[in-house]
Amino acid sequence: MPEADHTQKEKQFYTDIQPKNEGFFLKGSNSYDWGMKNRLSNIFDPKSGKTVMLAFDHGYFQGPTTGLERIDVTILPLIEYADTLMLTRGILRTTIPATYNKGIVLRASGGPSILKELSNEQLAIDIDEAIRLNASAMAVQVFVGGEFESKSIHNMTRLIDMGNKASIPTLGVTAVGKELVRDAKYMRLATRMLAELGCTYVKTYFVEKDFDTVVAACPVPIVIAGGKKLPELDALDMAYRAIQAGALGVDMGRNIFQSEDPVAMIQAVRKVVHENENPRAAHDYYLTLKNENNR
Ligand code: 5RP
Repeated sequence: MPEADHTQKEKQFYTDIQPKNEGFFLKGSNSYDWGMKNRLSNIFDPKSGKTVMLAFDHGYFQGPTTGLERIDVTILPLIEYADTLMLTRGILRTTIPATYNKGIVLRASGGPSILKELSNEQLAIDIDEAIRLNASAMAVQVFVGGEFESKSIHNMTRLIDMGNKASIPTLGVTAVGKELVRDAKYMRLATRMLAELGCTYVKTYFVEKDFDTVVAACPVPIVIAGGKKLPELDALDMAYRAIQAGALGVDMGRNIFQSEDPVAMIQAVRKVVHENENPRAAHDYYLTLKNENNR
């Protein structure tokens, strides 16, 4: 039982102040409950409304790819600059300190290696495990137009149903096979399907032409994948154009951890994403940091 209230102070109910009834800051996310919104706030910075996700889950199908041979050595120095980590449960448990308290997006699908047909994935985690690991979201590959299209869509909708029960967002990742044309028409189809089928947010590739129409047609937040390694200025330019077209962040891996100076590069990417810095200025910032780091 609480103790009786003996204070002499007069109660104050602030009857002249109306409670605030603000909408949630993130596109398409206002109707979720508190837990889901709280997790999304661990991924997207409520101040800028955007995110820099650092992706290093590549080992789940390609083993120790270049830059990820020793995640404890090469990736741990970067995590303080990321808003969210995208990774597998194996790397989370073995390598990421449990004191890390920003967003965790868990790889939730997998199966085949690069030696096999990659699109033949299944769900690779149970919801209890995602809850145990305090996941902010779960990520699933979807192969629209691919041989295993329906299977991957079914993986996704099952994950969404499990995630919604636990208030854990689902990130749908549009994975494009070699045979498919990466243009705005395809990206509009793929991202819209994922949103309509219930993804909380969607990751897709940036396309040069009409990317703003991809964003406009998708009712949930879009983040772009980094893709294969580019020169630093080109990667910053791609991130800039995606953000200007309405993307709410990047999920970038190789263009950060395969950079000549990953610590400088992730900070330059942050400038573009959170401060709308133009690519030239962000690149100058990268070079300055790189010079300082090499002194
Ligand atoms: C794998 C993924 C990866 O997380 C992502 O593609 C890696 O990022 P990057 O392409 O920037 O190296 O979703 O399918």
